[in-house]
Amino acid sequence: MTKRIAILGSTGSIGENALEVLEKLGPDYQVIGLSANKNAQKLLQQTIKFKPKWISLHDPEASDCLRAKLTGHPKLLPPGVEGLAELASQPEVDLVLTSLVGGMGLLPLLTAIKAGKSIALANKEPMVMAGEFLMKEAQRWNAQILPVDSEPSAIFQCLQNHKLTTHDPQLATLISKIWLTASGGPFYRKKRSLDRVTPKEALAHPNWKMGKKISIDSATLMNKGFETIEIKNLFGLHLDQIEVVIHPQSVMHSAVEFQDGSVLAQMSPPDMRLPIQYAITYPERKQSPAEHLNFFSVKRLDFDKPDFRRFPCLALALEAARIGGTLPTVLSAADEIVVEAFLKEQIRFTDIPKIIERIMRFCQQPSRTPSLSEIVEVDGWARQKTLEILKNKC
Ligand SMILES: NC(=O)c1ccc[n+]([C@@H]2O[C@H](COP(=O)([O-])OP(=O)(O)OC[C@H]3O[C@@H](n4cnc5c(N)ncnc54)[C@H](OP(=O)(O)O)[C@@H]3O)[C@@H](O)[C@H]2O)c1
Repeated sequence: MTKRIAILGSTGSIGENALEVLEKLGPDYQVIGLSANKNAQKLLQQTIKFKPKWISLHDPEASDCLRAKLTGHPKLLPPGVEGLAELASQPEVDLVLTSLVGGMGLLPLLTAIKAGKSIALANKEPMVMAGEFLMKEAQRWNAQILPVDSEPSAIFQCLQNHKLTTHDPQLATLISKIWLTASGGPFYRKKRSLDRVTPKEALAHPNWKMGKKISIDSATLMNKGFETIEIKNLFGLHLDQIEVVIHPQSVMHSAVEFQDGSVLAQMSPPDMRLPIQYAITYPERKQSPAEHLNFFSVKRLDFDKPDFRRFPCLALALEAARIGGTLPTVLSAADEIVVEAFLKEQIRFTDIPKIIERIMRFCQQPSRTPSLSEIVEVDGWARQKTLEILKNKC
């Protein structure tokens, strides 16, 4: 039977990789919906090639321009979150790939969950800001969440012989520990001061080619903190069951240590097409365009403890994970604003953790089990507060 896939964020790094995978998978996998923010030209090219039934552009002006170029087919959904929500909940959609960036992906993801969809989850920020809430909703609406990010996907793949879903209550006792690997980003082994790092240098990841936000988060190691929170929520684990380990080769994408001490790891060359494809074809495995692993050319695999002093964002994220409640929401929202400011060269690389820490300290009593409206309110508050700090700084 054909699997019909809608991609939220098809013009980005994950979206484009997913389309390449889908093209190679052939007619059993149909692209039924595509969306972007402003990039009408790329969306139009993708539309001509993949012939989706629905498309959406978030930006109203870009959406109007695109409407003028369309001849009735495909259907252009309304701009903004409305169009994304409509796309994510279409009855004909079997799988929604969420490859939007940042906290704006929360509401489209929630819509897909409430529509009981299978969801290939790349957009990690909603799982950081509202993970516990979203996993409860996923159980309530019987929505299946399949991780796309390489590390959660590695963990998910290691669990397959136990046939357990992401939020199975048995996981917390079955798993002794998760070894969550991190490449360390572009500065890990360089003994230089991080004060003068430029956006161009921070964007140059040694192993992965990704969108701007995740590239900066990888350079600060905030990305590994986000993944710790994502994995804790996705698999229902305790924070002390997750250990971050620096593995500069990015060949082992994470490992699961079971109760009996046995460790299963998932390995492959660093290529996002592999975890993307696994989430799309799950539970089947298919031929993939990704290169196969050759241990003779890998030669060595290194593992180090993370340096929390040089990369304070990781420590901040673990603190947010430990305290929980709305603090991860604050962390994610503040990070989004400061990363943008760093990319615009308004602040230094080393200001990123300093500003995030200030915002976290303002939030003395984070609500324990926040509702959706509390999460949305705290997210807005943290963004505003971060912008105020930036305004006074610049
Ligand atoms: N890239 C990776 O290899 C990778 C790996 C693991 C996890 N992830 C996660 O996957 C997500 C996507 O990452 P990415 O690197 O693919 O990002 P990206 O290259 O920046 O792409 C983001 C996509 O979302 C769209 N978008 C951005 N802002 C939007 C808005 N306000 N409304 C509607 N659409 C919007 C963009 O459209 P336009 O093109 O029009 O701007 C684009 O299609 C992130 O959460 C990231 O952490 C990525």
